[in-house]
Amino acid sequence: MPTPMRGDGHPSPAAISAVGLRKSYGDKTVLDGIDLRIPAGSVFALLGPNGAGKTTAVQILSTLSTADGGQAQVAGHDIATSPGGVRAAIGVTGQFSAVDGLITGEENMLLMADLHHLSKRSGRRVTAELLERFDLVDAARKPAQSYSGGMKRRLDIAMTLVGNPRIIFLDEPTTGLDPRSRHTMWQIIRELVSDGVTVFLTTQYLDEADELADRIAVLNDGRIAAEGTAEELKRLIPGGHIRLRFTDPSAYRSAAVALRETTRDDEALALRIPSDGSQRELRSLLDRLDSAGVEADELTVHTSDLDDVFFALTASTVPSRPAQSTQPTQSKEDVR
Ligand SMILES: Nc1ncnc2c1ncn2[C@@H]1O[C@H](COP(=O)(O)OP(=O)(O)OP(=O)(O)O)[C@@H](O)[C@H]1O
Ligand SMILES: [Mg+2]
Repeated sequence: MPTPMRGDGHPSPAAISAVGLRKSYGDKTVLDGIDLRIPAGSVFALLGPNGAGKTTAVQILSTLSTADGGQAQVAGHDIATSPGGVRAAIGVTGQFSAVDGLITGEENMLLMADLHHLSKRSGRRVTAELLERFDLVDAARKPAQSYSGGMKRRLDIAMTLVGNPRIIFLDEPTTGLDPRSRHTMWQIIRELVSDGVTVFLTTQYLDEADELADRIAVLNDGRIAAEGTAEELKRLIPGGHIRLRFTDPSAYRSAAVALRETTRDDEALALRIPSDGSQRELRSLLDRLDSAGVEADELTVHTSDLDDVFFALTASTVPSRPAQSTQPTQSKEDVR
């Protein structure tokens, strides 16, 4: 794994690092040796199917649970020997809401301020600031159980920020949110990162990881199956291709002869040509079609996306991607 460099050429300090983390429940091995290095001020996304161990990893790194083996440092503190140091530096928004529904949003915030030993005055100040920032001022005096899912999630994260943590763990922060609330949450996460906060995120949404994360790891069978930037992960999975569709069977046949390396779909009158989707490859393909005097009725460029990566890397635990039953590496369509 390359060590990220800061602008001054020095390696960025790791906010979170782990070597060989292991955890079993009974005879079930959940984490089977996990290595991580997450630079300060970056967003790291942990992806994986249900039950892969994402929440378990968050709980171990945030000292809510103990590992059976391996080592980890968070904010420079060892999780085993200095859990108090870790806790003082982090904020955790769990997968399931920590909001108390019986009291108001404001009271939930003030309770957190008390837990962080803030004075009454600064507790009130921080609460007011965060309620404002998370657009919860109007609802602040209402019982939290009357909040919508999105409002509860925002309150949950606002509560996490009361202690001004430099590292935050967000376990599926946008599950169950509508697209607008998800985008609001993304904006909140981006603002945190621009303030220098390190974010460790778990998510089921590949577009979320693609959108937010500097680096992504895919957890499968207790191990990190792949780790890298979204682009690096997409490159791991072949499947980019150009698809040409014809309505005239004779044009289809001529094209199949003119182009080499095609996969034919005689029923759909469609040809599939492996391609990286670059302008150069596209031009050469069109040139060959021109020389043969044939014109396709439809041309689509398909590039690998994170869904392909996810399905390819977690194939043993999820059924194959529905749309891919006949073409296992087909990917999201990008109609040009
Ligand atoms: N306290 C526990 N006792 C026993 N088994 C547990 C415990 N916590 C988690 N597990 C098991 O560990 C495995 C990983 O669970 P975990 O909650 O970490 O998965 P996850 O990746 O967060 O899944 P999801 O996407 O559904 O949230 C599961 O098989 C789960 O049943
Ligand atoms: Mg989970």
